[in-house]
Amino acid sequence: MNFVKVKNYQQMSRQAANIISAQVIVKPNCVLGLATGSTPVGAYKQLIEWCKKGDVDFSSVVSVNLDEYVGLDGSNDQSYRYFMNENLFKGINILPENTFVPSGIAQNIEEECKNYDQHIKDLGGIDLQLLGIGVDGHIGFNEPADCFEKNTHLVKLHESTIEANSRFFENKEDVPKEAVTMGMMSIMQAKKILLIANGKNKEEILNKALFGPVTPQIPASILQLHNDLTVIYSEE
Ligand code: F6R
Repeated sequence: MNFVKVKNYQQMSRQAANIISAQVIVKPNCVLGLATGSTPVGAYKQLIEWCKKGDVDFSSVVSVNLDEYVGLDGSNDQSYRYFMNENLFKGINILPENTFVPSGIAQNIEEECKNYDQHIKDLGGIDLQLLGIGVDGHIGFNEPADCFEKNTHLVKLHESTIEANSRFFENKEDVPKEAVTMGMMSIMQAKKILLIANGKNKEEILNKALFGPVTPQIPASILQLHNDLTVIYSEE
């Protein structure tokens, strides 16, 4: 594991953006696994800036996102599809048809999950997976549980996740209670993983996840078993 502690959010974002653009430069038709949440916003802003300057070209890149709330379609401004469009896709030259986010409104969620995994497999897997970490140790929406879930699946969000994510909603009651998330298999089969975290409130869980026992009670702890993991952490 490559653990990098940086001074502030800006440095974390810049370094993350550097690693993502290096991936795109080395393999222009790479598959990027992407995350939402507040942590990657700065990195996405930086990538937009570099793309606009012509320093990085996303025209052959394919992206697959980690997760989506159940019940929200892409036009809902709380959906992760909307978030990705606004915070990254609109600002770079990725083809909209090459961006994939699981559907939270599929008639048959089980089938949607199976198709999502198959799609990732057909793409040849993920070259670089970007991750944030929840205060309960979740990655994607793989919440603490008795076992690691391998495949893309429907998940009931934990109270702490609903609480944490309520900052994006008008009322806590508006936070969806369920989500579809990529499972551990696609994440762990990614050739490279980049985990970014910022804020004092993430320090304890990050320590447990990276240096404690590997346990499904701390889903991110499975990342210790990956052989190309970079973690960038800023206290600020
Ligand atoms: C989002 C996701 C989540 C977040 C995590 C941290 O797609 O997969 O695991 O990365 O909840 O969220 P923030 O960055 O808002 O602290």
